[in-house]
Amino acid sequence: MRVLGVESSCDETGVALYDTEGGLLGHAVHSQVDMHEAYGGVVPELASRDHIRRMVPLLRRVLAEAGSSLEELDAIAYTAGPGLAGALLVGASFATALGMARGIPVLPVHHLEGHLLSPLLSRNPPQFPFVALLVSGGHTQLMRVSGVGDYELLGESLDDAAGEAFDKTAKLLGLGYPGGPALATLAESGRPGRFKLPRPMLHSHDLDFSFSGLKTAVLTAVRERPLTESDKADLAFEFQEAVTDVLAAKSLSALATCRLDRLVVAGGVGANRRLRNRLDERAAKSGARVFYPELELCTDNGAMIAFCGAQRLLAGAVAGSDGKFAVRPRWPLAEC
Ligand code: KG4
Ligand code: ZN
Repeated sequence: MRVLGVESSCDETGVALYDTEGGLLGHAVHSQVDMHEAYGGVVPELASRDHIRRMVPLLRRVLAEAGSSLEELDAIAYTAGPGLAGALLVGASFATALGMARGIPVLPVHHLEGHLLSPLLSRNPPQFPFVALLVSGGHTQLMRVSGVGDYELLGESLDDAAGEAFDKTAKLLGLGYPGGPALATLAESGRPGRFKLPRPMLHSHDLDFSFSGLKTAVLTAVRERPLTESDKADLAFEFQEAVTDVLAAKSLSALATCRLDRLVVAGGVGANRRLRNRLDERAAKSGARVFYPELELCTDNGAMIAFCGAQRLLAGAVAGSDGKFAVRPRWPLAEC
């Protein structure tokens, strides 16, 4: 079965072709980062318009890379939410129109489920069940994943998501958008012990998170005195330590709670090298193993949507071919 995946929930347009026998045959992503940079964040209307411009060229590229054609598609999966309404509508209407033209089923997919299952696309995929740490720009969640569609929420952020905290802190330090990767790079030249930042909810005896206080603590440090470039690097270092400390500790607690030894990390912050090192170190100590998606599949992409759609179809999901579609900008994964 060949499934085309279409992602347009935020500021990346992604198209990919996944074959249940041949694996990932092609995938292409266009990032809008350069376009939004001037505004310091994503401008929804510009995002929607750019998705429209990119869809067909990306589709052509993927089909060429895969040596495939529209005639060989068996189904189309698109991100139906959560995300920006206008941006989601571009992918949804594109996928639906293509599905109608070809007379093949079209399946709405939950963006976070796509992230959650993306490590299964890697060369050494984990077996079910596992604990998943989902860390993106909009979500920070720990989940017990027993199988496709079988997800139990163990804990989540009560305020800012980890990626959001990275982005907001980066802004406070005068770094561009998106701030996460820029802050991580700056932190590499930072020195330990120069600033003291809290580890929010580290000892809360549950699996929830809170990151907004950390951002405020950085703001206080920034306001206290003018920061030199090396101060900023030290502060970035400490911020990254604080976030990764909490993420690693809670992930290990989640494994213990579930009596599992496989941890899967997904979402954009999963690309963070320091987080990966800390998780690997701590997991190794307790005999657990950590699985990551390929680096290029950490951030938003069409491959995870194609793959997720294929898994859903294999599990018996019924996809529509009646031309109806809907998007859900807010969509809790538990309702999926
Ligand atoms: O999963 P994703 O591409 O989009 C959402 O679904 O939100 O995640 C984007 C988030 C952004 O907040 C970005 O700053 C963060 O992931 N991010 C990182 C790194 N790479 C991306 N945060 C920290 N370190 C990184 N290396
Ligand atoms: Zn995402």
